[in-house]
Amino acid sequence: MEQFLENYGHLGWGQWYDTLEKLVKDKRAFLDSTGGNFEKFKYVVESLPEICPGTVDLSSKAVSIGKADQLLPDEKERFYNGLINLSPWRKGPFDFFGIHVDSEWQSWMKWERLVPHLPNLKNRKILDIGSSNGYYLFKMAASDPMFALGLEPQSAFYYQYCVAQKYLNLENVFCLPAAYNELPSMNRFFDLVLCMGILYHRKAPVKMLRQIHDSLVPGGQVVVENLVIKGENNHCLFPFDRYAKMRNVFFIPDLSAMEAWLTRAGFSNIRCVDITDTTHEEQRKTPWIQTESLKDFLDPSDPSKTVEGYPAPVRAIYIATA
Ligand SMILES: C[S@@+](CC[C@H](N)C(=O)[O-])C[C@H]1O[C@@H](n2cnc3c(N)ncnc32)[C@H](O)[C@@H]1O
Repeated sequence: MEQFLENYGHLGWGQWYDTLEKLVKDKRAFLDSTGGNFEKFKYVVESLPEICPGTVDLSSKAVSIGKADQLLPDEKERFYNGLINLSPWRKGPFDFFGIHVDSEWQSWMKWERLVPHLPNLKNRKILDIGSSNGYYLFKMAASDPMFALGLEPQSAFYYQYCVAQKYLNLENVFCLPAAYNELPSMNRFFDLVLCMGILYHRKAPVKMLRQIHDSLVPGGQVVVENLVIKGENNHCLFPFDRYAKMRNVFFIPDLSAMEAWLTRAGFSNIRCVDITDTTHEEQRKTPWIQTESLKDFLDPSDPSKTVEGYPAPVRAIYIATA
């Protein structure tokens, strides 16, 4: 984050410099003063060894950093324990000096569905809302954007990002431990905004889409990846209580309702580029998460339904233009 402060003056932040500087400083003060998980996780990151990885691979399924022979056996054990202490690793996989972090989600599967539809990222200003440990930020960095800025308010995921950045040291990738609503309104600034796995957690999804719309330059694009209901009846599922055991799921639109949300938020050229049922290959329990996973969220006698009796998770990717 310090590097963010140092670098962003050169990265075309223009009129947003002052507001962003304040946000970065507030967040730094917060991280320095807070107890609990942030402090614990920060210590984990700081105690990992200072090694120059030498080789880095951002284009394979796993974000790969360094080689196994760069760690002595006792260093490897300490490194492994440090990474485990940052669990749950939901997004990935990552390889740190030969230690394979087998995340709950095989995030490369979503990346492969998305990447053929992305615009040229070179020299672009990109925002990734809810960037988790930065898996997609690192993937996009390979295409040389002006910058890719992530927002991730959950401490474990933010510090997972910090571990990867400690070794990757990518000058055009940043992440702030902040929620989207903490970002100042930055009208007509970003070229591309990713909003993936977020909208179904929002009580006012159209309002959020409108804010995203206003933050894009004219002609800029949004990528929305969301849970959807198959069908085109302009309906939304609003779970009575939980959906797939998640408490914080509000609206799950069908395909035409999703398109209507984007239209009413001001977007045009709306394209649904992918619709995929979530499979046990893509989301499953691994030693890197302690919680349940997809198998536990589905009805064992009818896996086309969640344990609550709703349609099982299906995700769609939409791309639209501001
Ligand atoms: C379902 S995950 C999706 C992660 C990633 N975007 C992906 O598609 O794989 C949602 C992420 O958004 C983060 N998040 C939750 N509320 C947020 C908010 N208000 N602003 C930004 N991120 C948020 C969560 O901590 C979590 O990492």
